[in-house]
Amino acid sequence: MFEGKAYVTANVFMAPSTFLLKIKAPAVSQEAEPGQFVLLRVSLSYDPLLRRPFSICRTVGEEVEILYKVVGRGTLLLSEAGPGEELEVMGPLGRGFTSPRGTPLLVAGGMGVAPLVFWAGKLRNMGYEPEVLLGAATSGGLFGRKLLADVGVRVEVATEDGSEGFAGTVTELLGRVLEPSHHVYACGPRGMLREVVALTEEMEVPCQISVEEVMACGVGACMGCAVRAREGGYLLVCKDGPVFDGRELVL
Ligand code: FES
Repeated sequence: MFEGKAYVTANVFMAPSTFLLKIKAPAVSQEAEPGQFVLLRVSLSYDPLLRRPFSICRTVGEEVEILYKVVGRGTLLLSEAGPGEELEVMGPLGRGFTSPRGTPLLVAGGMGVAPLVFWAGKLRNMGYEPEVLLGAATSGGLFGRKLLADVGVRVEVATEDGSEGFAGTVTELLGRVLEPSHHVYACGPRGMLREVVALTEEMEVPCQISVEEVMACGVGACMGCAVRAREGGYLLVCKDGPVFDGRELVL
């Protein structure tokens, strides 16, 4: 696990308020596995104080790529970082996805697509032909399609307002296409994950979910990212996850 400085090489505008940050961090890119994350301190001025967790979207040579949306002051500062700017990075952190026991079916809601881009690429390298279901409220929220196209995977889209693809939620689309031979990998809002887990449990299909949570330390020390476990007690998203078996958590 690397902790130190990294340099911005590009901060590419992808869609309104959505950017692909590229940082030169060879020690991170060498080790990173799909599903893992990094903590970035977005400003060396120590304001905001906390580091923010970001899923690793892709690694290309010595670079780590992060897909993010501007949602607050920290990500606004990040969006203003230009080439050469110094960031503090810590990672790769957490547990990533594990090999499928069936045909991989990836389910992404909104920005949840980020870690699944990395996983789709690795699955292709492993000889699998993953399919991706990508959902959002409107077609403007269907992020990451270009990145998935680069990987060469089949993508089916769902929009709640029917502006593109299947008219409905991505979990409704999942309900139509899910087969017992699938192994589902999902990332997105908590409500979406809850529905994905319910569907896969009903059909006894294996399912892994990547969970987002606010994090401070990233290494299991602060307990700030605790989520309730089905078997009682708590699990830490930063250390036990962010990828969990769908049956492990109370969502
Ligand atoms: Fe501190 Fe997970 S972020 S324990």
